[in-house]
Amino acid sequence: MELVSMERKKFSTFITFWRLIRIFGSSYKLVLIIVLTAILAGMEIIISYSLKKLLDSVLHLDYITYRGLILLLIGITILQMVGRFFRTRLAGDYAESGIARLRNILVEYLIHLPIGELEKRHSGDLISRMTNDLNQIREFSTQTMISIIYQPLIALGAFAFLLTLNWKLTLITSFGVPIIFKTSSKLSNPIARYTKELQEKLALVNKEAQDAINGMEIVRAYGLKQVLIKKYNQAVDLSIRSGIKVVKWRAILLAISLFTNFSPFLICFGFGGYWVIKGQMTAGGLIAFITLLNPLTFPISQLPTLLGELKGQMAAAGRVFEILDIEKEREVGKIYTIQKEKPVIVFKDVKFSYPDGKKVLDGVSFEIWPGEKVALVGFSGSGKSTIFKLILGFYEDFIGEIELFGHSIKDWNLKALRENISLVSQETYLFPGTIEDNISFGNEKADYEAIVAAAKAANAHDFITELKDGYMTDVGEFGDKLSGGQKQRISIARALLKRAPLLLLDEATSFLDSQSEYKVREALNNIMNAGITSFIISHRLSTIQKSDRILVLHRGRIVETGSHSELLEKNGIYKTLYLHQIIRGLELEEKEVVM
Ligand SMILES: Nc1ncnc2c1ncn2[C@@H]1O[C@H](COP(=O)(O)OP(=O)(O)O)[C@@H](O)[C@H]1O
Ligand SMILES: [Mg+2]
Repeated sequence: MELVSMERKKFSTFITFWRLIRIFGSSYKLVLIIVLTAILAGMEIIISYSLKKLLDSVLHLDYITYRGLILLLIGITILQMVGRFFRTRLAGDYAESGIARLRNILVEYLIHLPIGELEKRHSGDLISRMTNDLNQIREFSTQTMISIIYQPLIALGAFAFLLTLNWKLTLITSFGVPIIFKTSSKLSNPIARYTKELQEKLALVNKEAQDAINGMEIVRAYGLKQVLIKKYNQAVDLSIRSGIKVVKWRAILLAISLFTNFSPFLICFGFGGYWVIKGQMTAGGLIAFITLLNPLTFPISQLPTLLGELKGQMAAAGRVFEILDIEKEREVGKIYTIQKEKPVIVFKDVKFSYPDGKKVLDGVSFEIWPGEKVALVGFSGSGKSTIFKLILGFYEDFIGEIELFGHSIKDWNLKALRENISLVSQETYLFPGTIEDNISFGNEKADYEAIVAAAKAANAHDFITELKDGYMTDVGEFGDKLSGGQKQRISIARALLKRAPLLLLDEATSFLDSQSEYKVREALNNIMNAGITSFIISHRLSTIQKSDRILVLHRGRIVETGSHSELLEKNGIYKTLYLHQIIRGLELEEKEVVM
């Protein structure tokens, strides 16, 4: 069992390595780096060999050879300097452009992931993979990768030279190499394991920090600072513990590397010295041999640390690749033209549970026809926003049938489908940038006049022009320089500018003051009278009364439909909702209401 998992790990380090190289691309640069590295390694060997010759010439008082060798050494050193400069530059270039490429691929990929997959993961974890883990990859491509090529080449070259010098002593001295190789490969496994653990813990730290920043107002208002600091400290503690484990194993490997570096000398002196005493070898020969031994033993002594680093960095790369291994959102599907005589939305006995198993919809059926204004009401958590997510194709693993503009959603090309839908969601998200930018996301081709017209219809024009920079006002991160009502009106303007035939609006009323509420209501009236089909999740009497039909969602089903007055007469769920949340403009949970 242990053997199988070890094999798998080795395999996956290699696979990850290979995958990384393929993503980095520009293989000609890599080849050039390898060639340059090989030349540099060759020079290193030549230097060691010349040192041996130099020693010979001094011992033989051979001035001509001595002078030639000194000049050669100076020349090679200069060449080495130039070579190293170019290799380092090239490697840096290769690494940086490779990392940039990987980063682009990742962002491009994230955009194409199914919403369901993103909802499953914490954004802090994803960001940690794109920062902390990517940094490990950078370390690999700027340092480890070069050493992994350079060190074995030098060792091989030195080994070849030593063989020509004294094959018997060479074989005896390198007797331990395979053992060192095997042990260091084994010893490097914990480093990989704990590096991976450390990266996971760092992701946790990121998550906690992000929650703290996003929830700062709540944290302050509810005096949660201590709770938060405690959680954060716990995450940091865990990361420190993993970090210490990595350091401990590095220290062990360093100690071992001293031994592996030194033991060949010991062996060499042991046997060589004995042979010199017995007259089977000259003292000069032994000294020359020992001079050339260093290029062989040094790379080997570095091996455990190097392998440990490589495996750790590949584990981090593996965490990055985990993102790339998530299946992308479906991109195939038909692009239909919209037909006026077909229903806009049809749900036939739709059942849906989130991946964690909770059943939200349990046989929902309804139809909405072109030009209709339909309101969707229900307690908080009853699944209203989920119905919107299904209409937008965010989740496709539902049971039953959903048709949009007369075609099954499973046949639609999702991108084309979404072009026909405008969404104003419950969390009005504004992107960092100007108000104008944020409205024009609805339709990138729209000109300034169209943007102003949309803002006017959304009742946003007046407050925008009152701001110092008007439409050029920077809304700040999350749009937090604007009030909830203002943000919602900008989102409505964005949706209006898109001019899609279907509008989905998830009303968030709780944070609107009465002034904003009035303005938003007017904006909604404008939309509902514009002839497009609107499907609005609402808790607001004014919106509900303006709609042609109300759907009441309760315990996974549409339990009542009709107009406001028809539903009140029924004395059912709608009446309860009306009495408890519609009059007060609140969204309440079922358990908060006595029925
Ligand atoms: N991404 C998700 N993963 C798991 N459960 C979810 C997710 N989103 C919503 N839920 C759960 O599904 C139920 C319906 O949520 P939602 O559609 O947002 O309700 P509503 O909009 O009516 O308040 C709730 O119990 C909620 O906790
Ligand atoms: Mg909701």
